[in-house]
Amino acid sequence: MAKKTTPPSRTDPVNVLILGSGGREHALGWKLKQSKRCAKIYFGPGNGGTREVGTNVPLNPMPVITKNVDEIDRFCRQNKIGLVVIGPEDPLCAGLADRLAAPGRHVFGPVADAARLEGDKSFAKELMKAASIPTADSRTFTNYEMAESYVKARETPVVVKAAGLAKGKGAIVTSTPDEAVAALRRCMVDKEFGDEGTTVVVEERLVGQEVSILALVDGRNLFLLDPSQDHKQAGEGDTGPNTGGMGVYCPTPLVDDKLISTIQREVLVPAVDAMKRSDIDFKGVLYAGLMLTAGGPKTLEFNTRFGDPETQPLMMRMKGDLLEAMVATCEGRLDGASLSWDPRVCCAVVMASGGYPGAYETGKVIRGIDDAVSDPDVQVFHAGTTFNKSNELVTSGGRVLAVCALADTLKEAQAKANAACAKIHFEGAWFRRDIGSRVM
Ligand code: AMP
Ligand code: GLY
Repeated sequence: MAKKTTPPSRTDPVNVLILGSGGREHALGWKLKQSKRCAKIYFGPGNGGTREVGTNVPLNPMPVITKNVDEIDRFCRQNKIGLVVIGPEDPLCAGLADRLAAPGRHVFGPVADAARLEGDKSFAKELMKAASIPTADSRTFTNYEMAESYVKARETPVVVKAAGLAKGKGAIVTSTPDEAVAALRRCMVDKEFGDEGTTVVVEERLVGQEVSILALVDGRNLFLLDPSQDHKQAGEGDTGPNTGGMGVYCPTPLVDDKLISTIQREVLVPAVDAMKRSDIDFKGVLYAGLMLTAGGPKTLEFNTRFGDPETQPLMMRMKGDLLEAMVATCEGRLDGASLSWDPRVCCAVVMASGGYPGAYETGKVIRGIDDAVSDPDVQVFHAGTTFNKSNELVTSGGRVLAVCALADTLKEAQAKANAACAKIHFEGAWFRRDIGSRVM
């Protein structure tokens, strides 16, 4: 039989495979399923929540080794998958999008050369400098002694960053040279982040509010998604260690239309152009983490995928067909995309395991989600959940759930999300009650 070599036509039903297991993947699947063109939807491996949206299949996007890639590829062929969505950064940086490319199949997510913008902070810094993208002044070190004498001689505070991927925990914000030396030791001597931290970026510590700006990019065109504000620190009032993200609200009033076009012009477009000049076609999501300083917006980092938990409020507010938009991204025709937004505010509060972002226990039975979602404006997306042998929903990760609520004002959305969290129980559960308070 002749192999199908053309991509599906623009009206065919599409079977979708979403790779990853977080709240982001649950939210993307929830939204993709609403598309008229979405036929079957699979999650590899998914979590306790995704099996309500589609079918969980035992596929592993990590590590990106031949065995796993072959299994995913075989699954796609057997199940006529037309769209593969790669959620997390690790497989993208390790080249999974490159390896899954096949005729008749769209892969949403950048190739490894493009994902390097996230996976290698020292590369990202060089690109930003070369393209005059506003960012903190920085230096990259591979030698501990040189890094140490540099931070000791600095009079202003610095941030020490593991250059590689570190699950959002690899940026250590310091106030004194002693703290900076301790941070360097954690990365370069104690190797807390493994090989990912043996190269460090030391940069000036900036002051300001942080925002997340995500855009779909089809190699050439950008389609900006509404701005949001993440809360990375574990403690209320933005204290304590960095996490993968403890809550987000969207849209944020910190970014008006004028600022969004400045960010598009000064940050996102130059980044895509710089990639293009190096013959790298950036396709997927480009996410700029920015600090709004007195001197204008400055780029803290680029991510090359949807944010978590930014995606959860974005999906709750998105109107239009995400599947069409993803296919358009892959086909380089985003200029025709039509997505719009529910005008209401969404607040997403992450419920975490006791001890996170440090060590935590798993296997705690989760109760109360049905009660929490009795309000039609509340959704609970699962991140670290699974089912135990008795078929009870239990915790399986640090960030367990993202509880999202829509309302006319941020204050109401926060109150609704907090009230929904209060209905959900598992041993050790905690969450920040102040998501969004910074701008209220
Ligand atoms: P990153 O992984 O680079 O986004 O950094 C994680 C977090 O560290 C950011 O969300 C900020 O809260 C903080 N951070 C990173 N870089 C800086 C900087 N140059 N100045 C102040 N805070 C920073
Ligand atoms: N919310 C931060 C991230 O996805 O990296």
